[in-house]
Amino acid sequence: MALLSILRYPDARLHKLAAPVTVFDEQLKCLVGDMAETMYAAPGIGLAATQVDVHKQVIVVDVSERRDSLVVLVNPDIVEASGVSDIEEGCLSLPGIYETVERAERVKVRAYDQNGTPFTLEAQGLLAVCIQHEMDHLKGRVFVEYLSQLKQQRIRAKLAKQLRKSA
Ligand code: NI
Repeated sequence: MALLSILRYPDARLHKLAAPVTVFDEQLKCLVGDMAETMYAAPGIGLAATQVDVHKQVIVVDVSERRDSLVVLVNPDIVEASGVSDIEEGCLSLPGIYETVERAERVKVRAYDQNGTPFTLEAQGLLAVCIQHEMDHLKGRVFVEYLSQLKQQRIRAKLAKQLRKSA
């Protein structure tokens, strides 16, 4: 397994549309393993393939405190959503930025695992929010894009400053 480098916002590649996975092969299993390792090392609670510049519909999530509940979602599709959640979100592509975005409180998701086995997952709270956040990445959408233009400008300025400091 290997650590993958994570694209930083505002990188244009974060806006690419991810294609559905059609072949469940060793390469996919390798990608899922590397993504999980990268997410745990960051550390983060979710990672979309888009963020590691692979434009396939693959996400990994683990919102557990013990970091032992990995959820792999390939070609995820939300089939039911209800309620309103306003949990503060962060993103490995925007380190240090935390904002609240309106999301569904509960979602029912259909997806495949890395072996191509279909399953349905019912999630609520943080897990539901995290899945919606990661699925947005697959559509080329970053969570701060729900905020006002002014707020987005401030965030871009803050991230640019961070980059200059670390350079
Ligand atoms: Ni993110």
